[in-house]
Amino acid sequence: MGTIRLGKRTEGRAPLIREFVPLADLADLVFGAWDPIPDDCYTACLRAGVLDRHEHVEPIADLLKSIKPMPAVFDQSYVKRLEGTNVKRGKTKRELAEQLRADIRDFKARNRCDRLVVVWCASTEIFITPGPAHATLEAFEKAMEGNEPSIAPSMLYAWAALMEGVPFANGAPNLTCDFPAMEQLAKARKVPIGGKDFKTGQTMVKTVLSPMFKARMLGVAGWYSTNILGNRDGEVLDDPESFKTKEESKLGVLEYILQPQLYPELYGTMYHKVRINYYPPRGDNKEGWDNIDIFGWLGYPMQIKVDFLCRDSILAAPLVLDLALFFDLAQRAGLAGIQEWLSFYFKSPQTAPGLYPEHDLFIQQTKLKNTLRWLMGEEPITHLGIEYYHEA
Ligand SMILES: NC(=O)c1ccc[n+]([C@@H]2O[C@H](COP(=O)([O-])OP(=O)(O)OC[C@H]3O[C@@H](n4cnc5c(N)ncnc54)[C@H](O)[C@@H]3O)[C@@H](O)[C@H]2O)c1
Repeated sequence: MGTIRLGKRTEGRAPLIREFVPLADLADLVFGAWDPIPDDCYTACLRAGVLDRHEHVEPIADLLKSIKPMPAVFDQSYVKRLEGTNVKRGKTKRELAEQLRADIRDFKARNRCDRLVVVWCASTEIFITPGPAHATLEAFEKAMEGNEPSIAPSMLYAWAALMEGVPFANGAPNLTCDFPAMEQLAKARKVPIGGKDFKTGQTMVKTVLSPMFKARMLGVAGWYSTNILGNRDGEVLDDPESFKTKEESKLGVLEYILQPQLYPELYGTMYHKVRINYYPPRGDNKEGWDNIDIFGWLGYPMQIKVDFLCRDSILAAPLVLDLALFFDLAQRAGLAGIQEWLSFYFKSPQTAPGLYPEHDLFIQQTKLKNTLRWLMGEEPITHLGIEYYHEA
């Protein structure tokens, strides 16, 4: 999380964020999960092959073995490339969601937790657009009873968490809690929600480079992004319907940052393409490759190539932890509903109705830090800085 500057640049106050705001102590956290694949955390860890077995897995083997996934609410029609045996049974989606609520209560009691946060780190579901079933809480609950296809499993988790007064953050690009019924429920229960889709790799780079082009009024003729990855996420995204969900999330950022409607000569005809290719030999070590065709003064073309040899889970895991801590903080601070100040962590940030999302990574970071200052009664930092040169 790093540090946070407080007051003027001359004051030299820059505490660690974790010492500035009252976050939960890491030593007090306990972890649980649902998963249709019954592997315990130790087995899953070895299978994923992300962490060094001897240096990072074996020393905490007992803890990892003790984390066994609860049976999931899972339906293969929403994640085509996945099969699982550890699943709940129920006649209606409502019934399944009630089972999730019972799990949440049991987990809390068993582990003697004061508070909980649910973060969706599960697979990307098929593309679903908001419809009548998502418009109001009443319609949503009726649709759960009627087993309507527009109600995906992830939505049942979100509903269950909110009903139990537990903040819910969505790390996948699924619709999940990004619709009016869920916003209504979050407000009514005074619980924070947010998402969606962790911003960890290629899109993070995109939301740093594109504001630079716009700031210098450099045009973009085309942006071709491709990825190869071989983990289970890559396998799931190999299905066109799950990929469509991810594609929408990845495509949105440039439109909002570059504002082609304001700068038609620079960005009006930009060609933006995103590809994800499942390539097993790479495992979790994703390669995100970008070719950007830009143009400068008098229309002269130039190119930028980015080849990000990254590690998917190494980039994502710290975000999950930060989100758990900040959603818990938001809950304690009485911030109910959409947490736009945490858009720093997301590719497709949820915003209040009618508000376009802010995608620029550093504007998002400023928003996050100013929110923390505001919560703690410190002055927001505007970077005006005129006071260093002229007396008030
Ligand atoms: N860098 C990143 O890792 C990154 C970045 C952005 C977004 N995401 C998103 O985060 C999610 C998780 O990514 P991952 O790499 O850990 O994937 P993964 O495939 O390794 O893990 C997902 C897990 O979710 C489980 N699952 C699927 N449906 C479920 C359900 N209904 N209930 C409970 N569990 C269910 C799967 O069995 C699997 O174990 C994906 O949606 C991915 O697109 C990841």
